[in-house]
Amino acid sequence: MMKMGKSSGRMMRTSCLVILFLMALTILFQSYEVQPYEVQSEPGLKHTVNVTNELGDHALTIHCKSKDDDLGSHTIWNQESYSWSFRENIFGRTLFFCYLEWKDTQIHSGTFVLFEAQRDGDRCPTVCNWSAKEDGLYGYNGDEGHEGLVFYAWS
Ligand SMILES: *[C@@H]1O[C@H](CO)[C@@H](O)[C@H](O)[C@H]1NC(C)=O
Ligand SMILES: *[C@@H]1O[C@H](CO)[C@@H](O)[C@H](O)[C@H]1NC(C)=O
Repeated sequence: MMKMGKSSGRMMRTSCLVILFLMALTILFQSYEVQPYEVQSEPGLKHTVNVTNELGDHALTIHCKSKDDDLGSHTIWNQESYSWSFRENIFGRTLFFCYLEWKDTQIHSGTFVLFEAQRDGDRCPTVCNWSAKEDGLYGYNGDEGHEGLVFYAWS
């Protein structure tokens, strides 16, 4: 029978440790991923994105996704809001893009970036308010109330 030397036993223990370490890292990174709808206790800045329908009588459909999450399709009516919260991932590369659509005599729509850490981390550190109006989608600066700082026109 092969007898294991001291050093190969140590090597095996070391590889076990390395594997455990990698598994722990994987679990850690996963737990930092974006968690819509619920507040997690992990560190990382919490942001809320809040879209309000200011289209008058027209329903607005909104469907947001990130790399890891599909928030599903939601319809909001005049003056209603749709919001979700998440924590920025540790890489600071959280990005949510949303398809929005409403119609009067024709369909108005667009796929827009509603949160991007680089652009919005400082612009709206807590709540990123967006208003859907007939000419387009207005992104407001969270700290300065109703100043339109980002604008997307419907196509
Ligand atoms: C979203 O915006 C609407 C309208 O401005 C406001 O009434 C609502 O409280 C906001 N919701 C959140 C979660 O900030
Ligand atoms: C977002 O909009 C709501 C309603 O207008 C307002 O109460 C709230 O203060 C806004 N959030 C920020 C951070 O400005």
